[in-house]
This record gives sequence, structure tokens and C-alpha cells, in this order.
Amino acid sequence: KQYDNILVETKGKVGLITLNRPKALNALSSQLFVEINEALRSFDADKDIGAMVITGSEKAFAAGADIKEMKDNTFIDNYKKNFLGHWAEMTEIKKPIIAAVNGYALGGGCELAMMCDIIYAGEKAIFGQPEIKLGVIPGAGGTQRLVKAVGKSKAMEIILTGSVNLNATEALQYGLVSKVVPADQLVDEAVKTASKIASMGQPSVQMAKEAINKSFDVSLDAGLRWERIFFQALFGTADQKEGMAAFTEKRKPTFTNE
Ligand code: HXC
Repeated sequence: KQYDNILVETKGKVGLITLNRPKALNALSSQLFVEINEALRSFDADKDIGAMVITGSEKAFAAGADIKEMKDNTFIDNYKKNFLGHWAEMTEIKKPIIAAVNGYALGGGCELAMMCDIIYAGEKAIFGQPEIKLGVIPGAGGTQRLVKAVGKSKAMEIILTGSVNLNATEALQYGLVSKVVPADQLVDEAVKTASKIASMGQPSVQMAKEAINKSFDVSLDAGLRWERIFFQALFGTADQKEGMAAFTEKRKPTFTNE
């Protein structure tokens, strides 16, 4: 399918989404986000795909929500339409998503990256939440997910000043990203990791993702319970039988995602 603001392709078992609105530094218009969600849902439903990568351009992953589109919004319209509520749809995706961030990931761009499961950064990546300078605050998870990634003091500094950004090295130090790579190798590196994930059994990958995400939501006790139920349930899959048989027979497993 053709989209107006994104490019979609497959690399083996990996679905690659490239944000492609260069004249606005990939500012996330409502329509752009509708397209991201649609592409993600379609990869999620595709049995030949096991993981996804989202990237932007070398200059910008995404420079935030589209300021020009929202500047005249009113509270009551936002409230009635649940303005930008649809962004959160991507957190319902079951397959893992890797953000490959080159250049600016500001405001909603940083929040989009944080809604992904893994973030890799190119050497020139810049992460920030400048919303306060526009008279607003982050609206798609910045005040919640950034704290969990970098801790309270740094998150406060970033969000309250709007001007303290993290470069790639700092983002790595704080644990916001898990790897920094040269810009021109970033997408390949993300696709490589996504391919590795896609070669595992999908039920176990998806339950692992869901269990890890539970840790952000529920008490330790409840999270451990979810984990154990998932673990026990996986013994009902063909992949568990295959994985353990392959180990005892000293061969590589072939997972069927069943
Ligand atoms: C709309 C944007 C935009 C944005 C850039 N552009 N960011 N348009 N919304 N968020 C447009 C510019 O208006 C310009 O278009 C073109 O992209 C190129 O941008 P420049 O500013 O000329 O580029 P540069 O000088 O290199 O500066 C890059 C930049 C700057 C530092 C990233 O563009 C910038 O500060 N952008 C805004 C960042 C921001 O405040 N993000 C938070 C948004 S609020 P024209 O037509 O003028 O050439 C948000 C809320 C999230 O994200 C809530 C989610 C629910």
C-alpha cells in the first residue's frame, strides 16, 4: 500500500517504516500518525513479519507533533476529539518495534521513540522535550516514559527547561537508548537486531514484550504473576517443544510460531 507521509518496505522478516515528510522535518501531523499506526497494524497481522523498525531521515527522526496543525486548537475541541489520543494505538502492537533515531527526536518525536520497544541512536541523534517553550507539556508519554528511562532529576531538567537535550552519548549513558552507531549504519543495525528477534518464536517474543511492559504498569507481585502465567502458557506452544528438543538434540531450532 502507498502512503503519503511514510515509506513502507520489508527486509526479510522485518517491516521497515521510514517517516517521509522532509519539508517539515517529519513533524507528526495527525495523518502521519494514522499512517504509522496503519502500517504497524498491517505488519502485526502479517505472519511473515516478526518485528518492525521505525526510522526517519538523517536530519530528523521527527521534530515533534505538527505545531502548525494544532496551534489554533481549543480545549473543548481537543477534549471532544481526544486530540492525539490515537497516537497511543501503537502501544497495542504485539510485535516488537525498534526506533532507529538519526537527528532530531523532539517532543512527540522523542515520545514516538519511547513508545517503541528498543531505541538505537545514530551518532548525531538529539533527544529533547521542548514543549514547555510552546506553553504546553509533553502529551504522548514524555512525563511518564522519560522519567522511567532517565530518572526524575534528568527528566525534570529536560522537560521543565525545554532546552536540555540529550545527545546520543548522553542518551546511552542514561539508558534511554541501548546502542549508538554511525548514522549511515543505523538502519542496518536496527534491522539486524529486528531480524534476530524475528527468527525467534513469535509467541514467546510477544509474551516477553507484554510481560516487560507490564512492569511499567503493575506492582512487582502482579508483574511476577503475569510472567509466570506467560511462562507456563508457553509450554502449550509447538515452539517450546521444538526449542527444547533442538537443545537436547544439539541442533538449531526451527520455530513455526505456533
Ligand atoms: C511543524 C515543523 C516542526 C514542527 C519543524 N517544522 N518542526 N513544522 N511542526 N514540530 C518545520 C519548520 O517550520 C520548517 O518549515 C521546516 O520544518 C524546517 O525546520 P527549520 O526550523 O527551518 O529547521 P532548523 O533551523 O534546522 O531547526 C530544526 C529544529 C526546529 C531545531 C528541529 O525546526 C524546531 O525547533 N522545531 C520544533 C521542535 C518542537 O518544538 N517540537 C515539539 C513540538 S510540540 P518552513 O515551512 O518554515 O520552512 C509536541 C507535542 C507532543 O511535539 C504532544 C504529543 C501528543
